Amino acid sequence: MSVMRIGHASLRVMDMGAALQHYDNVLGMQVTMKDAAGHVYLKCWDEWDKYSLILTASDRAGLEYVAYKVRAESDLDVLQPKIEAWGIKTTMLPAGSLPDTGRMLQFHLPSGHEMRLFATKEQVGTDVGSLNPDPWPDSVRGAGVHWLDHILLMCEMNPEAGVNTVADNTRFMEEVLDFWLTEHVLVGPDKNIQAATWMACTTTPHDIAFVGGPRSGLHHIAFFLDSWHDVLKSADVMAKNKVHIDVAPTRHGITRGETIYFFDPSGNRNETFAGLGYMAQRDRPVTVWSEDHLGSGIFYHTGILVDSFTQVYT
Ligand SMILES: [Fe+2]
Repeated sequence: MSVMRIGHASLRVMDMGAALQHYDNVLGMQVTMKDAAGHVYLKCWDEWDKYSLILTASDRAGLEYVAYKVRAESDLDVLQPKIEAWGIKTTMLPAGSLPDTGRMLQFHLPSGHEMRLFATKEQVGTDVGSLNPDPWPDSVRGAGVHWLDHILLMCEMNPEAGVNTVADNTRFMEEVLDFWLTEHVLVGPDKNIQAATWMACTTTPHDIAFVGGPRSGLHHIAFFLDSWHDVLKSADVMAKNKVHIDVAPTRHGITRGETIYFFDPSGNRNETFAGLGYMAQRDRPVTVWSEDHLGSGIFYHTGILVDSFTQVYT
């Protein structure tokens, strides 16, 4: 297993000032770098790499790409021919293509999303340091998110036309990047069509998730919090700051996560997510959600799907 975790997400935003107010003051991230092209780089207080979020000014919202971090530079050289052999073209971007970051192996998932793998990024340390650290820094602001935790990608799906990029992405992640399936939603007359999948490369219930939809896009990026109380407090911070909340604090059946969903000022959905749910292990039986229990899989308490949650994404 060479993929360690999600490394960063690169998002388009339509108003950089408003975006910075959101990610800096509401979520509690900090700007660590700006480059000559106007990209802004941010990290969470509990992250040691220099950034986990890149913001790019644009006339539309959405995901530029998502990057995962591998253990060593040599992993990139091993993975490049594996990805190519699977039928996906790759480009090795030279070190320095992003500031303070090594080579990046760039390719597109079957769903069309751009993914990059990298091994090297400048480490600046967490805000509590590594020597006799306090459990949290005095500088915690806003929701005080710990780290970028996972991403959920909407993937084009039209089973009647034989298109299911949820299943294609899932197979690629299993066969090439060595992720494993923790949970999936199976639909159709034979209950064998993967309509959504949750996959791990760490020991948490998901490091990436794919959900079928009419077009591919970004559903949300999620940041980790310690506890249910921290999720409640993050909702308070959002209400204070007039953040558009999509789903008030609740629990997922899938992953058992405690959660709140909201939008950044450009309409990119965010989540703050608490609870490790369960220990994701390679030999853990895959959890199956049937179509008739999808509501409680997504929102465990009410069992009712919220229209905006399933239909609105960037
Ligand atoms: Fe999530």
